[in-house]
Amino acid sequence: MCGIVGYIGKRDVAPLLLEGLQRLEYRGYDSAGIAIQNGGRGGGLKTVKNAGRVRDLEGKVPARFSGTSGIAHTRWATHGAPNDANAHPHLDAAGRIAVVHNGIIDNSADLRAKLAAEGIELASETDTEVLAHLIARAGAEKLEDKVREALRYIEGTYGIAVLHADFPDRIVVARNGSPVVLGIGEKEMFVASDVAALISHTRQVITLDDGELATIKADDYRTYTTDGSRTAAAPTTVEWEAESYDMGGHDTYMHKEIAEQPEAVDRVLRGRIDDRFATVRLGGLNLDARAARGVRRVKILGCGSAYHAGLIGAQMIEELARIPADAEPASEFRYRNAVVDPDTLYIATSQSGETYDTLAAVQELKRKGAMVLGVVNVVGSAIARETDGGVYVHAGPEVCVVSTKCFTNTAVAFALLALHLGRIRDLSVADGKRIIEGLRRLPEQIGEILREEDRIAKLAAELAESRSMMFVGRVRGFPVAKEASLKLKEVSYIHAEAYPASELKHGPLALVEPAVPTVAIMPTDELLEKNRATLEEIKARSGRILAVAHEEQPKADSTIVVPRNEPELDPVLMGIPLQLLAYHTALALGRDIDKPRNLAKSVTVE
Ligand code: AGP
Repeated sequence: MCGIVGYIGKRDVAPLLLEGLQRLEYRGYDSAGIAIQNGGRGGGLKTVKNAGRVRDLEGKVPARFSGTSGIAHTRWATHGAPNDANAHPHLDAAGRIAVVHNGIIDNSADLRAKLAAEGIELASETDTEVLAHLIARAGAEKLEDKVREALRYIEGTYGIAVLHADFPDRIVVARNGSPVVLGIGEKEMFVASDVAALISHTRQVITLDDGELATIKADDYRTYTTDGSRTAAAPTTVEWEAESYDMGGHDTYMHKEIAEQPEAVDRVLRGRIDDRFATVRLGGLNLDARAARGVRRVKILGCGSAYHAGLIGAQMIEELARIPADAEPASEFRYRNAVVDPDTLYIATSQSGETYDTLAAVQELKRKGAMVLGVVNVVGSAIARETDGGVYVHAGPEVCVVSTKCFTNTAVAFALLALHLGRIRDLSVADGKRIIEGLRRLPEQIGEILREEDRIAKLAAELAESRSMMFVGRVRGFPVAKEASLKLKEVSYIHAEAYPASELKHGPLALVEPAVPTVAIMPTDELLEKNRATLEEIKARSGRILAVAHEEQPKADSTIVVPRNEPELDPVLMGIPLQLLAYHTALALGRDIDKPRNLAKSVTVE
């Protein structure tokens, strides 16, 4: 999960590349680098790279560092520590070729040995550097053919851009498993890992497919497969506006993305409610009513927050459509030789649509002939294109590494899917109307919760010194507890665990003490009394409790009261205050909220 950027055209390239890297830093930010050339034959490459952030790189770029084409990279280390030598771009021995890479070359050790046997010593610990040397030793004439020859040795994933001093009129890029998008400008071309780096310059883009290469020149581009045959990639127009990547007056993207959830949820509902039949219209689902009636089971696959949203979705599908449903982490799925059932509907869910673990699970399912849908945020992403159909969550770009609005929109998208499946089967008109009315209330109710931010911030300040925290919930509350636990961990670095509330007495209760507060998610549903009994168990052991509930809980030290919706939709609302709790805890601890340590936004490697 790194970010690559490239440009070729008439403008001065360095500022454009550095701006593009800023837009991609959420993909990885432990080191960065840039290589440019001035377009004249016989000139050389100029390269600057360092451990640290893009802003550190900007400080190192010399004043007279101009050129008309170049590539750049911001890194999340997979091979080799984050240091200057391991930062991309990587060069061949003569310094005439520069490569930036997102992905993992699985056979890099063998290739290192092969190159060493030919007397080629590498200057870094990275897997990527082998590519620069393989391109240098390729016998083909044209740069695209050299790159293609080098890629024949590669096993693994890549999204690469290659600059060659002998070919100043072009950049060659290639994709296998890691995203590469071309941006088409007016006598200028861009390339990036994500449209975020392009959108302020052009909204005409081409997303490469796995196994595709492209040669980009200032006024032309060509795409090929790795065996050299031309492909006819058609440009598409990016829906999102450049402004949606701005911070909009907020101090962090996380705060902005939490705050914009009312509008985001409004977008995922827009145009999809069918009052006439008390159901929803999901264009692009590609699952007709007869096929939907034949579904005997639903399995949802995702990673991290996407997996947690899938847990909520599975419950909604069971409750509304009465189809057995469950969710499991996509990251383990391809390793367990799963029994794939032709009557099971598989759903892959992913904000970025590029998460390698989830994409690999989809490819494994497709290989076994399964029916796979996608619930995805990024239009045209790899998972969206790999699945047979699906539901876009329309959250808009989510820049913060910590997912908030996409998690919420994904849960709402699953509610729409559950309603759709339910009304095709036995869910009554009355229940359909009930859920629709609940969906329509969500944006305003989320806004109501967000207006409690100051009080939640005070509660967070009290919790910020905790050594560890527990999150518990029953049935609908448990996925909320899991997501809230992840949120706190990844943004504040406080250890947290989530348990089904009924499980506490089977061991985790041993952890309860004043220094380990418990957050209890307890909607006013048929399990409220059980949850109240859990509070008694915790209080009896001097545990501190923060309840998230529909009414004050006397046994809790504090209660965050959230508005009631329909029981099936309550998990969507219960998670919102806990996003703010995690945010303000991290703020109190001075954490780097949008770029937490060790993480990256889009995990496009294994
Ligand atoms: C969420 O806060 C995390 N950043 C992470 O768990 C994320 O949800 C996971 O990596 C899946 O990403 P995706 O939704 O883009 O597939």
